[in-house]
Amino acid sequence: MKISVLVSGGGTNLQSVIDHIESGYLDKAKIVRVISSNCDAFALKRAENHNIKGVCISKEMLPDPKERCAAIMKELEAAGTDLIILAGYMSILEPELIDRYRDKIVNIHPSLIPKYCGKGFYGRKVHAAVLAGNELASGATVHFVDEGVDTGKIILQEQVPVKPGDTPETLANRVLQIEHRILPEAIKMLCDGKLK
Ligand code: GRF
Repeated sequence: MKISVLVSGGGTNLQSVIDHIESGYLDKAKIVRVISSNCDAFALKRAENHNIKGVCISKEMLPDPKERCAAIMKELEAAGTDLIILAGYMSILEPELIDRYRDKIVNIHPSLIPKYCGKGFYGRKVHAAVLAGNELASGATVHFVDEGVDTGKIILQEQVPVKPGDTPETLANRVLQIEHRILPEAIKMLCDGKLK
């Protein structure tokens, strides 16, 4: 399965997928492209470290969303992409791309969807909102991407406790450990044909 990973930041989820491929756990997967919306993303360095072609397609380079989408799709096609993984990707996909890769786009979100998801809930903001909501638990969700934001069918979800004294950082780190496990697990389910 040829996978293209869309990133914007540190790329710890990308790294986890790379590690699970190199360990043999994801023996049917190969990352063929990393596409970043941020040219300074450390995720691009991680791709380079593992000889994976990384490209930056940013708003600064292509301000027009349609042109940016066309450039992303050209890259995805050139790589022969079978599956798109959004891993810390902070940009909205155009309907045209979602149509072309219907049910072949997977996202990891750092909350128990449908809680604390959608527009406005990303990165640290998710964890701050969970703490403000006095939740006893949070977690991470792997889901298919459709036209909505964080609204596609859920594939895997796992929770963690919210602990007294938690800050958005301590909670984020606890959730990130779950992300790094359930994202590769969901990819394995897809590669093994366990998801219809
Ligand atoms: C993670 O919390 C992920 O769930 C969210 O972006 C954060 C950073 O991800 N979508 P990464 O370290 O860049 O993979």
